[in-house]
Formats: sequence, structure tokens, C-alpha cells
Amino acid sequence: MATSAAGATGWYKGRVKAVPSGDSLVIVAISTTKKGPPPEKTVTLASLMAPKLARRGGVDEPFAWGSREFLRKLCIGKEVTFKVDYAVPSIGREFGTVFLGDKNVAALVVSEGWAKVREQASQKGDASPFHAELLRLEEQAKEQGLGRWDKDPGAAEASIRDLPPSAIGDASYLNAEAFLAENKGKPMECIVEQVPNGSTIRVYLLPDFQFIQVYVAGVQCPSMGRRALAVPVLEKEAKSGETNGDTSAPSAAERVAAPATHQENPPQPFAVEAKHFTELRVLNREVRVVFEGKDKHGNLLGSVYYPDGDTAKDLALELVENGLAEYVEWRASCLEEDARRRLRSADLEAKKSRRNMHTNYNPGVKNSKAIHDQKFTGKVVEVVSGDCIVVADDSFPCGSPLAERRVFLSSIKCPKMGNPRVDKPAEPFALEAKEFLRTRLIGKQVHVQMEYSWTPPEAAGSGDSRLMHFGSVFLTSSTKGDNAEASATAPPTTAGQPAGINVAELIISRGLGEVIKHRDQDERSSYYDSLLNAESRATGAKRGKHSSKESITKPMHITDLTSSKNNNAGIAKKAKDFLPFLQRGRKITAVVEYVLSGHRFKLLVPKETCSIAFALSGVRCPGRDEPYSDEAIALMRLRLMQREVEIEVETVDRNGTFLGSLWESRTNMATVLLEAGLAKLQTAFGSDRIPEVHLLERAEQSAKKRKLKIWENYVEGEVVSNGAPTMEGKQKEVLKVVVTEVLGAGKFYVQTVGDQRVASIQQQLASLNLQDSPPPVIGAFNPKKEDKVLAQFSADNSWNRAIIVNAPKGAVSSPKDKFEVFYIDYGNQEEVTYANLRPIEPALSSAPPLAQLCTLAYVRVPDLDQDFGPDAAEFLSANTLSTSKEFRAKIEERDSIGGKVKGQGTGPILSVTLVAVDAEISVNTALVQEGLARIEKRRKWDQKDRKVALDNLEKFQDEARSARRGMWEYGDVESDEEDVAAPPARKAGGGRR
Ligand SMILES: *[C@@H]1O[C@H](CO)[C@@H](O)[C@H](O)[C@H]1NC(C)=O
Ligand SMILES: *[C@@H]1O[C@H](CO)[C@@H](O)[C@H](O)[C@H]1NC(C)=O
Repeated sequence: MATSAAGATGWYKGRVKAVPSGDSLVIVAISTTKKGPPPEKTVTLASLMAPKLARRGGVDEPFAWGSREFLRKLCIGKEVTFKVDYAVPSIGREFGTVFLGDKNVAALVVSEGWAKVREQASQKGDASPFHAELLRLEEQAKEQGLGRWDKDPGAAEASIRDLPPSAIGDASYLNAEAFLAENKGKPMECIVEQVPNGSTIRVYLLPDFQFIQVYVAGVQCPSMGRRALAVPVLEKEAKSGETNGDTSAPSAAERVAAPATHQENPPQPFAVEAKHFTELRVLNREVRVVFEGKDKHGNLLGSVYYPDGDTAKDLALELVENGLAEYVEWRASCLEEDARRRLRSADLEAKKSRRNMHTNYNPGVKNSKAIHDQKFTGKVVEVVSGDCIVVADDSFPCGSPLAERRVFLSSIKCPKMGNPRVDKPAEPFALEAKEFLRTRLIGKQVHVQMEYSWTPPEAAGSGDSRLMHFGSVFLTSSTKGDNAEASATAPPTTAGQPAGINVAELIISRGLGEVIKHRDQDERSSYYDSLLNAESRATGAKRGKHSSKESITKPMHITDLTSSKNNNAGIAKKAKDFLPFLQRGRKITAVVEYVLSGHRFKLLVPKETCSIAFALSGVRCPGRDEPYSDEAIALMRLRLMQREVEIEVETVDRNGTFLGSLWESRTNMATVLLEAGLAKLQTAFGSDRIPEVHLLERAEQSAKKRKLKIWENYVEGEVVSNGAPTMEGKQKEVLKVVVTEVLGAGKFYVQTVGDQRVASIQQQLASLNLQDSPPPVIGAFNPKKEDKVLAQFSADNSWNRAIIVNAPKGAVSSPKDKFEVFYIDYGNQEEVTYANLRPIEPALSSAPPLAQLCTLAYVRVPDLDQDFGPDAAEFLSANTLSTSKEFRAKIEERDSIGGKVKGQGTGPILSVTLVAVDAEISVNTALVQEGLARIEKRRKWDQKDRKVALDNLEKFQDEARSARRGMWEYGDVESDEEDVAAPPARKAGGGRR
């Protein structure tokens, strides 16, 4: 065996990665400890000459394809043993012997007639060590007419492939559109001929040899740079070039390495690995390609499946799973939803495990948080914008103020609504989006699947608790035509999942919003792919914002007749001018824009292009601070918000509020309120003008009988105790109370004895086990002024419902931060630390405050900063403050104005006569007797009972005065000033301080 030839090596093991022709193989090292792809070598079988395949644009030599196919099928992917017998540096080729098991590959090729054997070596020793045997085998093959020695006339011509024009590098050869029209979605047999980079292959389409470049759909590998760079060659070989002293011609290794230095764009990290990965699996293999579509440059996108044992593997998925390609949305739009989902989750998985190209993957700050397993059904109460709605959750009682949930639509973004208050116009198509959704959704039943919550980055960490909750909303009943637009209507699989139209998809398919380009780690809609599909459909069809149509950026000009703070009089006058127009047409159509209170609304009257404040005549709902005010508003929002209604206007009041009746779906809304016990009939101005007044009366009667809501304490013939804005009837109501807090000026808070709500709240608080609960996490809980919370009372460490009255500016920074709280069930106020606060759950916070503010009737008690004010408060405290001491409080008057003390407000203030259960005189009287209060001025129009009360008190005041008690210390302090609560000034000489 000749071993002296230049470049000869010892034996190696390797795997055949490619078979470029009938006499050459690319062999790659089987295992390597080095990073990156293993070294490889192209070996031409020594002493053989196979016919040459066509170069681009050329033709095959006869039998070239058969020859290549024989060697390819024999060797591709197989493990071989090989050695280089000699090298010819001038042409950069190495010639060697390759063994497949114990078979000499060259011998197999020659004996099948697929290559010629060179007669003699060009240089001494440059021949196969098996030269003689090869010559003998060649003779045999010739004799038998095998392979290229086929004796059939015409066989040589027939072996030349009829190649169609190449489709590579010149798209004009292939009309991608026509090609796809014919072949899209069909699996097609191909042989892969080239792999320019990991995610691009060039194939012969069989049987026609159409040469096509395929981008692997859905993924992209790192770029190989401007010029392809071969992988390193065996090191040993590079050295052998040097030892030969042959400096004139570069060694193969040098040649291969050389272009790198001239390259403008070197390969990106892991580009070479990705290319190698793809080559090992598909190069020179028979694969199946499913053409899926094309990109915007007309490049064909396809899914590539290669055999692996008995199964077929998806090249895209394998690349992504191994961190050698990235999922790319714009190359995936042609794929089925399932395939995309698989790729995306594999991509995320590879990123999380930082595989290969994701080694330095940085997930960044995650602002979104998944919400698991939260589904509900409900009715759409309000459409805030194209991507935000308010839904009343069915699991709450109908009309409960707690039922409303604001839901942002997952993964979509609509143009922003403007802000008329600062003259900011809506972005193009914002109004269209909202109106589109309003007409489809308002009042409709929907399924909601909550998916994630998200804090806008600008709000995160700034103490701003602006948390947005996102979900997919499905409309169960649909408007005609919407079904066709939103393709994937029924969300797939999991049991119990809602069916219906995905509202987000509907908006997107109309071109009225866009799909959010989430970062990898962000939560998203479970139906994200349908959204993307809808978006590409909308873009393709040029709908909505993708069209060249002009958008309405401003609603039509509307005269706003609702009063603003600074221009009441002007508005009122304008409203009066409009009255004839609104009165004229009897019933007119309006849209409810806002529910101001249970019986007051802002309405848009399209026909008159004006918006008005409108109140139901003949009924009154509880005021803002009264119980059931929220319920009345919630019920009306549920029934009326953004609906078309009919109104009949009677008149307009001095403030410019129109009065009249309102119907939704032919239902008189006043009856709805009355029937629910959320309003009272008010016919003080006569009932003859009110339409359907008999219905109203019947509705109120029914609520009274059933003791609903504001009638809960109603007893036939007695005056109601709750939410009654004015006193009615003759007999005065008496409450059994305990005094819980004493303020100045004769004001104090009481709790009603035996109030079921007190017990219920205490029970709920006890069940929370707050005593041992850890302090709240700073940042997660940011109570602000006016927020309801739970606070720990310093005197007995009990937990109580409270309202924040004062909070530190900015975000909480320490558990010691101080908050001033008002205990809404007791009426007292104190400063506590952040560590003494807990968030309150809705069920607990919704019950109305139980502390009732009272004042002593018929008497004037000095305030704390006035003389004898502190004494009076002290006396009052000493005589009332004890939880075991019960009083009867006779309600003499209700005053809805004085209810706001220190900004808390707990409903109307009750003016009472307070008598201890076992006492002979009232607390009111006792204060007068002590000289710590004086009686109120008499008025000309005093009613009889008031006169009697004042007469009685007069005696005690006379007694105090003559005894010079308290404020009478210096004689008569009577002042003529009507509205001062206590002696306005001390007499000369001063009193005690
Ligand atoms: C991969 O190769 C193809 C064909 O040369 C080229 O068009 C494509 O841009 C390459 N991809 C990357 C990521 O470099
Ligand atoms: C007008 O508005 C004022 C303040 O809002 C209110 O006190 C008054 O009762 C209103 N008048 C009428 C007639 O509604």
C-alpha cells in the first residue's frame, strides 16, 4: 500500500453528511469534545471519475444523476471509515478510500458501473491503493453493461435529466402565486441539495427536478453573514499542508478560513451550528415539503418533514426546540394555529432554558401576571372603548353595585378615546371602534375568560395601583355576519369553555384595532393566533384603519346642555330655550350616556343634537350618602347605560335639568326603581302630570309590602327609618342606640342596638383571623385617601372597617408610615401605621357604614374651640360613652347637609332627643341644666311639638342661669345672632380656658 503520497492520513471514522456527486462524499467527525459543529472533510474516491452533474444552467453528463443517486442512497447518513490517500493542493481536493462496514465504497461504485477508473496516476503514488482491483471490477461492469456502460442505444440520452429553469436567485423563473395556487398544502417529495443557512433549504422537487428555495415556515436561524463560511476542516490536515513545505498553494484549511477575514458580515452566533444541524438531518435526504405560503418578497415558505426512524420530524420545531432558530410571527402567519402554538411554546421553552442562541436570554421585567381559571358570565353594562368593557357578573344579585367588572380585551389595542375636558380629540377610528362594540354588545350576555392582569409600565412601582385586568370575551348571541368575520369562533377543546364570537377578534377583523406585539414572556390571549389571522385578513381586505378612509375624529357637534360648575345660569337658560323642541314631539329617542344617580341621567338626544340632564319626575332615589344610592345607580346602569330609550319631557327645572318619564323597551323606568325599593314616589307637586302614575303607585306599594331595600324597616303607618330624605307622618321614630363617639358641638355617633348588620360584620371580621396575619407587603397594597380598609384600633387591637382620611404623599415606603383612619362603624378617628392596615374585601366594604352621626335637638352646644365646648364634650362623654349603656334616640329632624364631619359623611345627620333607658331627663336637658348648652331660638313658625320641647327646656335653662352654672357664670349670655351655635364671645373679664 502506498503511503508516501502527499496529504495521506491514517484512518478516521465519520458520518456521511452529503454526497455532492457520484464519486465524492462530505464526511463529518462523529463526536468531538470541542464546541461548535464537528470538523468535516470532502473526500473524492481515489482513482474514480464519475460523470458530472449539471452546473447551473447546464446539462448533466450522461448517467451523472444515476451515479450520484447510487452513492447517495448507499452512504448518506451512514457511518464510514476513511483515509486520505493523496491530496492535490492545486485544486484543493483530497482523494481517499472509504469503507462502509467491510465494503470498499469505490469498489461498489465501480462494480455497478457508476464511475470510470483512472488509468494512471498523474503523479507517483496518487492512486487508490486498490487500483488494480478497481480496474478489474470496471472490466466486469463494462462486460455486463451496468450503469454508465449501458449498451442500449439511447440509454445515455435518456439518463440526462431534463432540467426546468432554476428557480433560485431569480424569482421570475417561478411564479410563486401560481405555484402555491396549485401546490399549497400538499406534501411534496423533494431531495435537499443545499442548505444556505439553518432555516433555508434548496431542493429538487421530484419527479420534475424543479429547483426551489424554501424558507422554513415560522422560524428563522441566525444569519450566516454575507458569504457562506464553511466549517473548520480537520486540524491534522491543515498541519500536513505545512509539513509538506508547500507554501505556494494554500491548504484547504487556509482557503476555507481566508474569506472570513474579508467578510463584511460574519456569521451570527450559532448560525454555523444551526446550518450544521439542518444539514445533518436533511441535506441530500428525501424529505417532504408542505408549501404553506410566501413572504412579502415572494419567497416560498414551507414546512419540512424528514424521516427519523419510523417517524417524520418537523424541522422547524426541532430547530426551535434546540435553540437554533427563533419563532418569527411574520413567517408563521401562513401556518395553522396548532403549528404556531407548538412553535411558540417550544420557543419560549428554549428561551427559558437558555438553549444555544438563547444563552443570554433576558426575560426583562414582567409586568403581566397570569390569571388562572377565572371565568364568568355576565351582561355588558358599558362599552368604555373598543378594547374595554364593563360587565355585570351574573354571580352577584341583579343590580348589585359589586357586580360590575371592568375587562380589557386580551392582546388587542384600539385607538385611544379622546378627552373632551382637555380638548383632546379621539385617535382615528377610536369612536368607530367604541360605537361598533356598543351596538354589538350593550346589554348582551357574554362569557368572559380572564387571562392576565397588567400594570402599565409607567404606573408600575410608582405607587399607582392602576392594575388592568384582561380577558377574552365571547358573545353568545350574534349579529348576522359577525360569525363569518370572526373565523375561529368556538374556542377549542377544554371542557366548559365558552362558545361564541371572540369580541377581540371581531374588532380586529373590522380593522378597528391592532394585535399587541407581546414580548415573549408576556401573558397573552389564549386565542392569540386567531387574532393575528384576523389582523392579516383585515389588512388584506383593507378594512377600517387599514383602509384609506377618513375616520371621524370628533363626534357630530352636540350642544351640551348639562350644567358645568362654572356656568350654571347660562346652561339653565339655554335648556329653557330648548324645552319647546323636546316637549313638542311627545316621545323622543335618546341614548343614555351616563347615570348620574338612580333617577338622574345624562342623555344624548340625537334628533336635536344635544345632550341634556334628565330626571325622572315623580320619583326620588336615595342621595349620594344615603343607603341604597349605589344600588339604584347600579340597577339603572344595568338597564339603561348606553341604551336607546324613549323619553317624554314635561318641563325643565331652574338648574336646567329636564323632568319627565323614560322608557327602555317599553318599560317605565320609574316603576322599575319603585318596584325594587330603590326610590320613593314624590307627588308633592301633583301627580296628574305624571304618565302612568297608577303603575308607579302600584310598584311602590309592592316594594313596601315586601319591605324591599329602603322599606326594610317599614311598618304600615309608621315612618321609615332608612334613607328617608324628609320626615313624613306624625309619630316620630325612636331608635335604640349606644353612643360610640363624642365630637364637639353636641355631635356624636351612635350604633343601633340589635342591628343585624353589626353582628354580621363582626362575624365576618372574626372569620378573617387578622390577629396573626402578617403585615401587608409594601408595594402590593397602597391605600389612598378615601379608600376603605381594615384598620387595627390601638385601644383594643381589634380590627375594624375604616376609611383612610389622610395618607402619606406618594408610595408607602415603611411599615411605620402613618395613616389617619376613620372607623366607619363607630365614628372615631385615629392615626395608625401602615402595619396596622389590611386591604378589605368587597363583601365587607360594601355594607353601609353603621355609625350614625347625631346632634342634640333643640339645644346649642358650644364647639370645642369655644368656651365651655370642651366641658360640654366631657360631660357628654362621661354620661354616654359606654357600650353597655343604652339610649333611646327620638328622631326630631333629619338634616342631610350636616352629615359631613371631617370629610367622612355617614348619611343624614339625625337631630335627636337622647334619653338613657333608666333616666328621667334627656341628655339634651341635662346639658342645659348644667349650663353647658342653651336652647335654640324660637321661631315664629315653630310647630307644636317643637314649641312644647322648647318650653320644657326653658325651665332648665332658667335654673342654670339663676345658679350661674357653666356659661351663665357671668350672667346672661343671650345673643341676638341667630346662627351662632354658642355664646359668640366671652363677656369682659374672660372665662376659663
Ligand atoms: C438564509 O439564506 C437565504 C438564501 O441565501 C437568504 O435569503 C436568507 O436571508 C438567509 N437567512 C438569514 C437569516 O441570513
Ligand atoms: C339646583 O341645584 C342645586 C345645587 O346642586 C340644588 O341644591 C337644588 O336643589 C337644585 N334645584 C332644583 C330645582 O333641582
